[in-house]
Amino acid sequence: MLNTISRFGVAGDAADYFRLLNPYFLESVIRLSAVKRVIASCDIFDEYGTMLLIKGEQVSQAHRATFLQRRLRDPLENCLLVEGGETLDSIVGDCLDLMRQNPVLDALGGASESMVALRGMGHMPLHGALQLLLTLSRLYNRSHYDKRLGAMIICAGLAHSAGLDDDDTDMLILSALVHDIGEMYIDPEYLNDERELWPDEWEHVASHPRIACAFLGEFTRFPTAVVDSVLQHHERGDGSGYPFQLAGSEMSPLGKLAGVADTVSALVMRGDFGFEPGLCKRIEVALTLVSGEFPPPAVSFITTALARLNNDIAPAVSGRFAERVLPILQQIRSARRIAEAQTSSEVSELVASVSRFALETIHVIDRSLHEIGAYDLSHVDVLEKKPDVMGEVCLLLGEVAWRLRHLARSIYLRVHQHGSASDQAQVARLVAALSEPVFVR
Ligand SMILES: [Fe+2]
Repeated sequence: MLNTISRFGVAGDAADYFRLLNPYFLESVIRLSAVKRVIASCDIFDEYGTMLLIKGEQVSQAHRATFLQRRLRDPLENCLLVEGGETLDSIVGDCLDLMRQNPVLDALGGASESMVALRGMGHMPLHGALQLLLTLSRLYNRSHYDKRLGAMIICAGLAHSAGLDDDDTDMLILSALVHDIGEMYIDPEYLNDERELWPDEWEHVASHPRIACAFLGEFTRFPTAVVDSVLQHHERGDGSGYPFQLAGSEMSPLGKLAGVADTVSALVMRGDFGFEPGLCKRIEVALTLVSGEFPPPAVSFITTALARLNNDIAPAVSGRFAERVLPILQQIRSARRIAEAQTSSEVSELVASVSRFALETIHVIDRSLHEIGAYDLSHVDVLEKKPDVMGEVCLLLGEVAWRLRHLARSIYLRVHQHGSASDQAQVARLVAALSEPVFVR
């Protein structure tokens, strides 16, 4: 992979990273140049002093070969202007459109105080590299752009419910706008929502909070609180997140709220962004399945607001209960056996630690499965005649399947970041067992 950033993590590397042109970013810029005027705001040189573009010159398709694989004296992001690019006023306008279309977003961000905070963002300046990236995102990855806007709306609601002051509210909403900006530098193939990524593929995606953090440090003067929030939006209070597996006590208050907003927005904005049956129930399950992941007051705000929408009935499902539940139970049994063996045999502290973590998470998931009667097959005949109850069970199974895959990715990332080749080989079976595809609706 060209110009990979998946291992980099120190601020000093950032400038150098952006001087070598990222092919995915470059491709977007070239595409943009066909529909908008993208102009050099200064003379652009490569690292040897060769002039590539004169100030005022317009970027075109012909420049693809000129730029590709070059190391520039200054990052291209600092040297381009896009005419008619997005502004924070136009972005807030898009937010308001989304709220009119989607009752969940309206319920979460529609309080008058939240609307005032959201509209207030429209007066802030947006220029330079950030304007370029957000313009690219709106044109070429609308679903991801809308997901960021969904997170902004939810953050406006969360900020009000948490009683944040005006400055913290602005910083939280701003961090939602840019939290996934790092995805613009990742191979789009890995960002295809239809594709199930294996842990080694997901490692590329998992680098996006660090890329975003580096981008903000290099091209903006955003406060540290915004940068920290962006860097932490995939961390979780129980230590299961990434990129640093921070504990809740190590996370910033804004980072915790950004994580809630990102999770909820991803569920609301997926698919055709419709208000699908059971969406509110799905959100509730995602936020509460593993206690300790998200701050309880924020979860309470979300679930209380969504309860008013009367959308907590899961879609009805008919079919054989055993066919749906047994593959998950089998997968859990297999993963637990491997993890238990690794905590009791001669392994490194890292392998023992991730195995214990896997057992704890499996225990929490298992408890939820017990609560819905997944292990009790004595009433299957009755259950299969109740499509509404089956629907609720399947909704939970879907979330469990996703959690097991996420656990696999988390373990893979942790051991590949901090472990030896031997550690990586030892956890491979556990990662494979947790990653095993299961087919539930
Ligand atoms: Fe993200």
